[in-house]
Amino acid sequence: MTEPIAYADANASRAFFVQMLTRDITLEDCVLDLLDNSVDGAWRSIGHIAPTLDDGADLSPFCIDIRADEGGFWMSDNCGGMDLQRAENHAFTFGRKDDDDEDRTGDYRIGVYGIGMKRAIFKLGWKVKINSTYCDNGIAKAFFVPIDVRAWMAQADTDWKFEIFNAEPAKSQGVAIEVTDLTRGTKSAFGNPSFQQNLRRVIARDYALHLHRGLTIVLNGVAVDASLITLLESAEFAPLRKSWDVAAEGGSVHIEILAGASAAPPDDEAPDEDDRGEERYGWYVACNGRIVLAGDKSTTSIWGLEGFPIWHRQYRGFIGLILFTSDETELLPLTTTKRSVDLSSEVFRSARPTMREVTRAWIDYTGARKQAREVAKVAEQAAKSVSLFSIAQNPVIVTPTLPAKPKIKTSTIQYSMAVTRIRALATEFGNVNLSAREVGMRSFDYAYDDMVGEE
Ligand SMILES: Nc1ncnc2c1ncn2[C@@H]1O[C@H](COP(=O)(O)OP(=O)(O)OP(=O)(O)O)[C@@H](O)[C@H]1O
Ligand SMILES: [Mg+2]
Repeated sequence: MTEPIAYADANASRAFFVQMLTRDITLEDCVLDLLDNSVDGAWRSIGHIAPTLDDGADLSPFCIDIRADEGGFWMSDNCGGMDLQRAENHAFTFGRKDDDDEDRTGDYRIGVYGIGMKRAIFKLGWKVKINSTYCDNGIAKAFFVPIDVRAWMAQADTDWKFEIFNAEPAKSQGVAIEVTDLTRGTKSAFGNPSFQQNLRRVIARDYALHLHRGLTIVLNGVAVDASLITLLESAEFAPLRKSWDVAAEGGSVHIEILAGASAAPPDDEAPDEDDRGEERYGWYVACNGRIVLAGDKSTTSIWGLEGFPIWHRQYRGFIGLILFTSDETELLPLTTTKRSVDLSSEVFRSARPTMREVTRAWIDYTGARKQAREVAKVAEQAAKSVSLFSIAQNPVIVTPTLPAKPKIKTSTIQYSMAVTRIRALATEFGNVNLSAREVGMRSFDYAYDDMVGEE
């Protein structure tokens, strides 16, 4: 190869980098990134347990305390801390380095990309201080890393680093993060009661499995209660619960799926005042115990795809949970923001046939129920809400057998329409890719509901 004649500068501007890094993540998810790191610390401290529903792990010694208000953000944990060597070589790099093999195998981490903590502090504010107290051969040691983000961004050189100073060890081993001089968006969110309420709800939901194992998370002085999923179980209602391992390049992933009725479907399809209730239903995905997708009713979880209808109120009551567990975190179908799943992941795709099966069964049940409401209600009321930890193993979802629909004489309606109008209507129905047949069926249902009403 001939010698290059020059080199094109490819260094990132620090300001651009910070802006880009924090753009596509919500503030809530940034706080969760910090919680993930603490949880990883706690998990490392109890040592090499696969986070499944029956792992028996005890996280009761661990506590993460968060205070977030207009004056700043403070978070501290007693989850073991990071040592100086880790801070020097890995913890503050933007992206995980190839030589970072921190407790890789057997560790069942949530953190994998090496970006979460830095992205979170940049999103939060301008003045940062990260303290760590750790144990070095039986002796408690500590350091702190102060970051003045504005000053750091103003530096022009390409040698990116943060200073580390000696500190007095805290009472317990762990990390404490302080962020003051909050960014404008963060300040107004932290001062907003509905943001605070939502943050608590998201923590309760996404760390439900850890909270159930005894972990304490305190937000602004009040401990967060786990919001755990329950499913209906009876002689006639049985959720599906099955698990298997899939081999992937570099290791294997354990998959467990639980899916069924969490509540009875609604009696009519008009929206009610309790629309928040609707959020609970749909599909959940947990990666190494952390919920990354919650109450999903989109094409990510099949609704509106592959011949399945778009979610609507008729399907209310359904909950499915998929747990992906692996000591090779990079094999899990996590996105970098840990707020959805990677649809191209083969591991995720291997769960889809089972998702299809249970979704179909639920659609059929809620459809058949329309003609046999009274029989269905008796069965639904007789079923008990069971915690997901106690659901029996069952390879298929079982729903009450309802009297078959009486045979009705049908005719075919056929008409032609401009493709642009069909696509425009499909878009209004929420999915531009709906088939012409589906658009025709829905238009009829729409007009029928509006003009004729309940059968
Ligand atoms: N609370 C904490 N306790 C112990 N170590 C921590 C804590 N917070 C951060 N660290 C260390 O800092 C490292 C970097 O954290 P960061 O969140 O940036 O990346 P990550 O967790 O490795 O990956 P991801 O980007 O997927 O979160 C962690 O791997 C961990 O070693
Ligand atoms: Mg992390």
